Amino acid sequence: MATVNENYQKLPGSYLFAEIARRTNDFAAAHPDVDLIRMGIGDVTRPLVPAVIEAMHEAVDDLACAERFHGYGPEQGYDFLREAIVAGDFTSRGVDIAVDEIFISDGAKSDCGNIGDIFAIDNRVAVCDPVYPVYVDTNAMAGRAGFYDEAAQGWTDIIYMPTTAANDFCPALPEQTADLIYLCSPNNPTGTVLTHDQLKTWVDYANEHGSVILFDAAYERFIVEDDVPHSIFEVEGAKTCAIEFRSFSKTAGFTGARCGYTVVPKALERDGQSLNAMWNRRQTTKFNGASYVIQRGAAAIYTPEGKEQIEQTIAYYQENARVIKEALEASGYTVYGAVNSPYVWCETPGDIGSWEFFDILLERCGVITTPGAGFGPAGEGYIRFTAFGDAEATKEAMHRIEDLAFDMQ
Ligand code: MLT
Repeated sequence: MATVNENYQKLPGSYLFAEIARRTNDFAAAHPDVDLIRMGIGDVTRPLVPAVIEAMHEAVDDLACAERFHGYGPEQGYDFLREAIVAGDFTSRGVDIAVDEIFISDGAKSDCGNIGDIFAIDNRVAVCDPVYPVYVDTNAMAGRAGFYDEAAQGWTDIIYMPTTAANDFCPALPEQTADLIYLCSPNNPTGTVLTHDQLKTWVDYANEHGSVILFDAAYERFIVEDDVPHSIFEVEGAKTCAIEFRSFSKTAGFTGARCGYTVVPKALERDGQSLNAMWNRRQTTKFNGASYVIQRGAAAIYTPEGKEQIEQTIAYYQENARVIKEALEASGYTVYGAVNSPYVWCETPGDIGSWEFFDILLERCGVITTPGAGFGPAGEGYIRFTAFGDAEATKEAMHRIEDLAFDMQ
């Protein structure tokens, strides 16, 4: 008889965003007249830019013609995209990354989850708290997280590193040695960033302890401040201790199109093994590459027109972030993030819990957010807003919340 992966039985009932969707759908079914404004999952709303669309159309035409047809592509991605990434994201910032250190995928979420395949089960995992749930849930699925402790709201074998206003959103180095360390900057969910010096502390720690940093830079394009690295490889020593995940989802509106990439430096070795070679082996076995059409679209964001067009889209979301931050502050809320990020992390009023405030905003304002507690124990008492919505809807949501603040006084 087949048996199942028992680690799945230990997981919370549903993935955070699936739970929010369920609650929202139930509310919408019961209140069909409410005009809901979605500020929960970080899903983009602006269309793909013209340069991307044009490149994708041309790529479809390629597939329609025998001479330019493409079947299976390289599992690591086409060189036209890998080369554009090296030049556009790394060489331009003075970082030396080789084409064969770039692996194109269908997005950062898959890679963040799949990377665990190349690490042993007994690695000790450390995450910031609050944290993007994919890091924790995928390690729990692999059996690397121990048991879920309801009282502590966390997994017994995961090292949670509180990342809150109390430590200026920079986690302290863990007391127990961490083997795999997930860092995300600009951070999901708090919208805060790690500076060059803060990241250097982590790089030094990882090199000293033989740890590997799994660095999620999905929101890199939102960075505006100078002292914030766009890549962990801007920090000296990172090539011997870090893997970086990048995504075109938030950069260029690819949440539906699906494309991202992972950088695994060739200098990164553990147990005498090259992690680049291992990831290559994993990808060539389990993945047949992202689609040709999508990779052509992604390459177009590195052309001068594409670059300028996606900058306009990012500016649109940055303006939303500013509107949300200022409106919430004007209503008396304490907020973080929003400056280098599309996420606004807001303290809930009084002693109202995250899920309770989520319900209040849903029921009284028709605004869907994400409760901080869904991101880990230290997220309790916070709510996350995303700036990826329509500009008018974002302003309307803020008007409704201003009225609520007045109401609650
Ligand atoms: C989020 O809302 O945290 C993200 O959109 C989730 C994701 O990128 O998978």
